[in-house]
Amino acid sequence: MQLGRLMSLFAVTGATGHLGRLAVSSLLDRGVAPSDLVAVVRDASKAADLAARGVQVRVADYGDPAALEAAFTGVDRLLFVSGSEAGRREVQHRNVVAAAQATSVRRIVYTSIARADTNSTPLAVEHRLTEQLLRDSGIDTVLLRNSWYVENYTAQLPQYRATGAVVGAAGEGRVAAATRGDYAEAAAAALLADEPRAARYELGGPAFTMAELAAVLGDVTGTDLAYRDLPPADFRAGLLAAGLDEGTADFVLALELATAAGELDVPPTDLEELLGRPATDLRTALTELVG
Ligand SMILES: NC(=O)c1ccc[n+]([C@@H]2O[C@H](COP(=O)([O-])OP(=O)(O)OC[C@H]3O[C@@H](n4cnc5c(N)ncnc54)[C@H](OP(=O)(O)O)[C@@H]3O)[C@@H](O)[C@H]2O)c1
Repeated sequence: MQLGRLMSLFAVTGATGHLGRLAVSSLLDRGVAPSDLVAVVRDASKAADLAARGVQVRVADYGDPAALEAAFTGVDRLLFVSGSEAGRREVQHRNVVAAAQATSVRRIVYTSIARADTNSTPLAVEHRLTEQLLRDSGIDTVLLRNSWYVENYTAQLPQYRATGAVVGAAGEGRVAAATRGDYAEAAAAALLADEPRAARYELGGPAFTMAELAAVLGDVTGTDLAYRDLPPADFRAGLLAAGLDEGTADFVLALELATAAGELDVPPTDLEELLGRPATDLRTALTELVG
């Protein structure tokens, strides 16, 4: 195993993003030599710290096929972090897969979305297309179908505090959110595994309802917080009243309805298998992030 690793060149796309950075750190922590690791970034100035650690920094935008090919040259295993420009990702991801096919990439680990086959959120469309591109590519692929990030909620803490409420339309739906740190470690493990057990992992942490989120978040931050569940139409009207445009309001509502339907609730077993330990529970995660 060690010999194989010594002969491999690994790459991480989106390496200056939240998840990508954590994955780079996790790969280094797991013994990958910095010189055997390529950080694929679109802005080298954001990667100065990675270069200082000895990681190879290569610049490529997902919109630039030639730059992607150059960035993947010599790479054996690629952690392909899905792009963040929703609506533009079909073309961008097609470029990434084509560049991997044109070069030496033998394994792609891709960050997809929970239950991608049936997930009803608008976000899932580009992930489904990308999964199909990967299947058609002939490259050995590991799909990491990530559920939500706990950080999606902590990012809204100022808003929750201002109103004393987590407002939603998710009802009693449970979401298997996990920390970016756990997803990143799992991605590193899938990239490094000699033979991953599966070609597809449904990843999530211990699931919770929005009422449980509000209670634990309130406790951890010393804030009086409760979950206020609204009928979908009222929730949407509230978003519009808060200044969101119709498209964005529909998008946010779709995420709530998917949560209500349990589409983001997956067992923690796959995540824990890749981590080799229990996934971080909600209270611990919130304490680390905002406690
Ligand atoms: N599961 C969830 O709850 C959840 C939530 C949000 C996002 N996501 C997905 O997971 C991915 C990683 O999450 P994250 O928190 O790390 O997001 P993030 O911090 O926004 O990172 C996205 C990364 O993609 C890079 N990127 C975006 N467009 C690109 C382009 N055209 N060419 C090259 N690189 C490009 C960004 O580059 P820069 O560093 O230069 O900006 C950044 O490094 C997201 O991109 C999104 O697909 C999942």
